Amino acid sequence: MKLIRAKNYKDMSRKAANFLSAQVILKDNSVLGLATGGTAEGIYEQLVEWYRKGDIDFSEVSTVNLDEYVGLDAKNERSYQYFMNHHLFQHINISEKNYHLPDGKAEDIEEECRRYDRLIEKLGGIDMQLLGLGENGHIGFNEPGEAFEQMTHCIQLKEDTIQANARYFSSKDEVPKQAITMGVKAIMQARAIVLCASGARKADILKRVLFGPVTPEVPGSILQMHPRLIVIADAEAMGE
Ligand code: GLP
Repeated sequence: MKLIRAKNYKDMSRKAANFLSAQVILKDNSVLGLATGGTAEGIYEQLVEWYRKGDIDFSEVSTVNLDEYVGLDAKNERSYQYFMNHHLFQHINISEKNYHLPDGKAEDIEEECRRYDRLIEKLGGIDMQLLGLGENGHIGFNEPGEAFEQMTHCIQLKEDTIQANARYFSSKDEVPKQAITMGVKAIMQARAIVLCASGARKADILKRVLFGPVTPEVPGSILQMHPRLIVIADAEAMGE
């Protein structure tokens, strides 16, 4: 594990963007695994800035996102597809056929999960996976207690996740109760993982993820076993 201390959110974002851009510079047709959430916003902002300066070219890059809420599509501002379009895809030269998220509106959710696994396999696997961290230790939407062996699947969101994510909706009742997420097994198959955390509210869980016992009760703790894990956290997140 490589642990990188950042001064603050902006510094964390720059450092993480550096790893992603280095990946793309070294391999122009990289497959990037992407994440949503407040942690990722600054990273995408930085990548867009470097793209505009002419420092990164996304024309050959493919991306696969970790997750999507069941029932929301790109037109819904709370969907992860909307988030990605808004923060990254519409600002860079990535081709529409090259970015992917699970389809939260798919008629057959089970089949959609299998399609997503086949897609990642067809792309040749993920070169670098960006991850944020849920306050309960979830990665993607893999909630505490789920088996580590899962590929893409549909999950019921835990009450504390619904509560934590309610800040992105007008009320808690609007937060979908289910999501499609890449499983822990699928995440662990990425060739490199960049885990980011910022702010005091992540301090306790970050300590448990990195230094506590490896247990499905703390889904992110499995990352301790990954051969190429890069952790970038700011001073507040490293507070513990
Ligand atoms: C959501 C996403 C995760 C993300 C987490 C943290 O639940 N499914 O992929 O890492 O929230 O979000 P934030 O970065 O906003 O704290």
